[in-house]
Amino acid sequence: MFLVSFTAILYGAVAARAHYPYSPGINHVSPAQWSALNASVSGKLHGGIPLARPCFTLANTAGSADPAKCAAIREGYSNSRFLVEQFGAYMNVQWGSCQKTTQTCVLKGFNITDPSPSNPPNVCQQGSVSPYYIDVRDASDVQKALAFSKRTGVPLVVKNTGHDYEGRSSAPGSLALWTHNLQSLSYNVSFVPAGCPASRAKPGVTMGAGSIADNVVAFAEANNVTVVAGAERSVGASGGWLMGGGHGALANTLGLGVDRVLEFKIVTPTGQFLTANECQNSDLFWALRGGGGGTFGVVMESTSLASPKMTLQVAFAHFSRNNTNATRGFYKVVAENSVRWAEQGFGGYIESFQALYVTPKLNSTEAAATMQPLFDYVKALAPNDPGVQILNLEVPSYGTFYQTFIANSGAPVGENAVVASRLIPAANFASAENRTALVDALMQTLAHVTFGLTLIATTPYNVPDDGSTSVTQAWRTAVWHAIAEGGWDGAVPLDEEKSAYSGISAAADFLRAITPDGAYQNEADVNEPNHEVSFWGSNYPRLLQIKKKYDPENVLSCWHCVGYNPRSPRFSCYI
Ligand SMILES: Cc1cc2nc3c(=O)[nH]c(=O)nc-3n(C[C@H](O)[C@H](O)[C@H](O)COP(=O)(O)OP(=O)(O)OC[C@H]3O[C@@H](n4cnc5c(N)ncnc54)[C@H](O)[C@@H]3O)c2cc1C
Ligand SMILES: *[C@@H]1O[C@H](CO)[C@@H](O)[C@H](O)[C@H]1NC(C)=O
Ligand SMILES: *[C@@H]1O[C@H](CO)[C@@H](O)[C@H](O)[C@H]1NC(C)=O
Ligand SMILES: *[C@@H]1O[C@H](CO)[C@@H](O)[C@H](O)[C@H]1NC(C)=O
Ligand SMILES: *[C@@H]1O[C@H](CO)[C@@H](O)[C@H](O)[C@H]1NC(C)=O
Ligand SMILES: *[C@@H]1O[C@H](CO)[C@@H](O)[C@H](O)[C@H]1NC(C)=O
Ligand SMILES: *[C@@H]1O[C@H](CO)[C@@H](O)[C@H](O)[C@H]1NC(C)=O
Ligand SMILES: *[C@@H]1O[C@H](CO)[C@@H](O)[C@H](O)[C@H]1NC(C)=O
Ligand SMILES: *[C@@H]1O[C@H](CO)[C@@H](O)[C@H](O)[C@H]1NC(C)=O
Repeated sequence: MFLVSFTAILYGAVAARAHYPYSPGINHVSPAQWSALNASVSGKLHGGIPLARPCFTLANTAGSADPAKCAAIREGYSNSRFLVEQFGAYMNVQWGSCQKTTQTCVLKGFNITDPSPSNPPNVCQQGSVSPYYIDVRDASDVQKALAFSKRTGVPLVVKNTGHDYEGRSSAPGSLALWTHNLQSLSYNVSFVPAGCPASRAKPGVTMGAGSIADNVVAFAEANNVTVVAGAERSVGASGGWLMGGGHGALANTLGLGVDRVLEFKIVTPTGQFLTANECQNSDLFWALRGGGGGTFGVVMESTSLASPKMTLQVAFAHFSRNNTNATRGFYKVVAENSVRWAEQGFGGYIESFQALYVTPKLNSTEAAATMQPLFDYVKALAPNDPGVQILNLEVPSYGTFYQTFIANSGAPVGENAVVASRLIPAANFASAENRTALVDALMQTLAHVTFGLTLIATTPYNVPDDGSTSVTQAWRTAVWHAIAEGGWDGAVPLDEEKSAYSGISAAADFLRAITPDGAYQNEADVNEPNHEVSFWGSNYPRLLQIKKKYDPENVLSCWHCVGYNPRSPRFSCYI
C-alpha cells in the first residue's frame, strides 16, 4: 500500500422582465401561504437555519443554542462529507453570509476551537441562507415551488452540495430547492436516450441530481466501468459541476462531464418536466452541456457515458512546501514538458511543491520515460530537502487511483475561499520565450495568492470540439486550467472581504496578460472581466436565445449566469 502524504489538491443578460414580481417578496408571504405550500409538497418545506446556529447564544434566526450539536458542527466544520448533509452549510462559508452587510453566522475553520466567533456580543445572522427550503424528492415539488415563486415574488435558488465558488446556490430572502436527497444511481449497459433509435445504445450511469463524486466513483467501480467525476469527495456529479463543464483527472482522454452526458431530466422554469437529449429538446440539451447550473431549469437526473474499466499509469513528485527556491525550476520543467504530457493523455494537479499525474494511454515503461525530467528535477533536490517523494506506478482502475490519491487528500472547506481561473492554451508553451513568460507569470501569481495556485491539467486536450457542448472552445486547446486561491477565515470587516476579492483578481491578472479570455465558470473569479466570452466563447448568443425560450420570465437567475441581471435584489449581498 502506498502511504503518500498527499497534501490537499487545491481546493487547495436577459434584463429582468418588468412584470416578474421580485417584490413584494418574502416579507409579504403570510404564514397561511407557507402552510399551503408545505401542504402542496407533502410537508417537505423546512426552515433554513445557518449551520453554526447551535453554537450561538445570541441570534436573530430560528433555532436555538445546543452545545451537543455545536460540538458536532465544530468537528465537521472542515469535513465536506459532513457539510454536504446540512442544508444550512456552504463549503465556502461566505455564501451563507451576507457579505455586503457582514451579517454572518460562522466559526473559524482554521482554528475551530476558538470560541470567540460565537460568543456574545456576536449574533448569529441569517445572512444568505434561504429562510425556507424544500427537500426535493420529485418533479412535482419543483413545479409547486416555481408556481409559488411566480405568485409571491420570492426568489428561488437551487442548492445541491453548496460547493459553488460564486454564491450561485444561495440568496437572501429566497426559497431554496435542495436537491441533495436525489441520490439514485443505476447502470444500464445499453442505455438508449428516450426518443432515439435503439442503435444509439451506449453504457450509461443514471444519477439523481444530488449524487456526489465519492458515491458515483464507487458505483462505477462496483460495475466495472469508468466515469469522469470531480476531485473532491462531495462535489456534485449531476448538478452544477456537470452543467458548468465538470473536470476530473481523466478529462484529457475521456472528456469533461459535459462531453459524456447522454440525457437530462429537467423541470423547466415554466414548469414542464422534460427529457433533453440529442433526439428531443436538443437545444436545451446543448445548453445544459456547459451553459451552467441554476439557469435553464432544475435537473432531476442525468445519464452519462460509462467507459470500460482501465489500467492507469500514475506519476507523483513532491518536495517540501517551504522550498520556494525550488518552485521556479519546477515550473520550468513542467512547462517544458506539459504539451507532450497532455498529448500522452496525462491529466493531473500541479501545485507549487508537487505534481500528480495519471494517464490511460501509456504503459508503465513509456510513462516512466516521459516523466523522467520531472523525477530528475525533484530527485536533485533531495540532498537538501527531506520532503522529497517520487512515485511511479500502475493502478488497475480509476476507483483505485481515486481512493489512493484523491479522496483522502482533504479538501480545504470551511473557510471563505475566493478563486480565479484562467485557461492556459498550448500557444503559451510553444517557444522558450513563451515558457519564460509563462513561468514568470506563474511566479508572480503565486506571490500574490494567500492560499495557493493550482495548475489543473484536466483539460479535454484529446477530445475535440464537435459543437455538441456549450462550454467555451478555449477548453479544447488549453493545457491547464490555472486556479489562484485566496480568502479569509471566520468573520472579518467589509474592507478585508473586498481586498480578498480584489487580491485574487490582481493575482490572476498576471496570467490574463498573456492569455486570451478563457476561464472555467465553476472555479472563476466572482468579478471575472468579460465573463460571457471567458465562460462560453462564441456560444453565448445562442445560450441567451435558449434561456429566453425556456425561461421567458427569468425565474431562475444566478451570478454571472446566462441572462443574469446584476441589479436583481437576489444579488444584494455581493460586494
Ligand atoms: C472543495 C472543492 C473542490 C472542487 N473540485 C472540483 C473538481 O475537481 N472539478 C470541477 O470541475 N469542479 C470542482 N469544484 C467546483 C465545482 O464544480 C463547483 O463548485 C460547482 O458549482 C459544484 O456544483 P454542485 O452542484 O456540487 O454545487 P452547488 O453549489 O450546490 O450548485 C452549484 C450551481 O449549480 C446549480 N445547481 C445544482 N444542482 C442543480 C440542479 N439539479 N438543477 C439546476 N441547477 C443546479 C446551483 O443552483 C448553483 O448555481 C470544486 C469545488 C470545491 C469547493
Ligand atoms: C411542513 O410540514 C411538516 C409536516 O407537517 C412539518 O414537520 C414542518 O415543520 C412544516 N414546515 C414548516 C416550514 O412549517
Ligand atoms: C486559536 O484560538 C485560540 C483561542 O481558543 C487562541 O488562543 C489561538 O491564538 C488561536 N490560534 C491561532 C493560530 O490563531
Ligand atoms: C436499459 O435501457 C434500455 C433501452 O432504453 C431499456 O429497454 C432497458 O429496460 C434498460 N435496462 C435497465 C436494466 O434499466
Ligand atoms: C471489467 O472490464 C474489463 C474491461 O472492459 C474487462 O476486461 C473485464 O473482464 C471486466 N471484469 C468483469 C469482472 O466483468
Ligand atoms: C521546511 O520543511 C522541512 C521538511 O518538511 C522542515 O524540516 C523544515 O524545518 C522546514 N523549514 C521551515 C523554515 O519551515
Ligand atoms: C535554488 O534552486 C536552484 C535550482 O533551481 C539551485 O541550483 C540553487 O542552489 C538553489 N539555491 C538555494 C539557496 O537553495
Ligand atoms: C510499452 O510500449 C512499448 C511501445 O511503445 C513497447 O515497446 C513495450 O514493450 C511496452 N512495454 C510493456 C511493459 O508493455
Ligand atoms: C510565443 O513566442 C513567440 C516568439 O517566440 C511570439 O511571437 C508569440 O507571440 C508568443 N505567443 C504567446 C501566446 O505568447
